[in-house]
Amino acid sequence: MSEESVRELESLAQTAAGCTACRLSENRTTVVFGDGDPLADLMFIGEGPGFNEDQQGLPFVGKSGNLLEQLLDEIGLHRADVYIANVVKCRPPNNRDPQQDEIEACKGYLRRQLELIQPKVVMTLGNFSTKLLLKTTTGITKLRGSAHPWWGRHLVPTFHPAAALRGGPRVLEQMREDFALAQGLLVAPPPSHPKAPAIAEDSIAEVEQLGLFR
Ligand code: URA
Repeated sequence: MSEESVRELESLAQTAAGCTACRLSENRTTVVFGDGDPLADLMFIGEGPGFNEDQQGLPFVGKSGNLLEQLLDEIGLHRADVYIANVVKCRPPNNRDPQQDEIEACKGYLRRQLELIQPKVVMTLGNFSTKLLLKTTTGITKLRGSAHPWWGRHLVPTFHPAAALRGGPRVLEQMREDFALAQGLLVAPPPSHPKAPAIAEDSIAEVEQLGLFR
């Protein structure tokens, strides 16, 4: 990433800080644009800010954030080595799922973050961001455990850390496997079929319309 790209990312964050493109701006405390190294090879994409994130302006800062940092630590990385962002940058009321028009209004930010950061590996955290980015209705339980070629990079879906906090040791163990997979891909060549999603055609259905990239 060039210095120009770093500056553009900062300027995009400033633009986002005043964004009123959707109703989520009405009740937010802070826009949670993203956090971490703009040169990161590994980028995480969650769903949207929760209570703590909205208060602090940073993604994944509560208990989920602590678990994410622990899993990173286990593969020899720190929060400052990666970039963390969400599909929507403002907290949905009562932590409900972001709605289609809110995703539409916000997706330009995530798209540009990806274009500027150019991570080698993207890890989606949980069902919501995984289904949205892979344009599928297949659930996270089936999609995790392997890497999916995605726009010239590897996408490694894993559970949302909150699911491991609720779901116990088996979920945590599977997250560890996914983090190890991502770690290996950081030093692997990019996928040979840049766009091809490793997903059956018949599972690509209504979330198509939510597609981040077309
Ligand atoms: N859950 C998310 O999906 N993102 C956050 O930033 C925090 C919790």
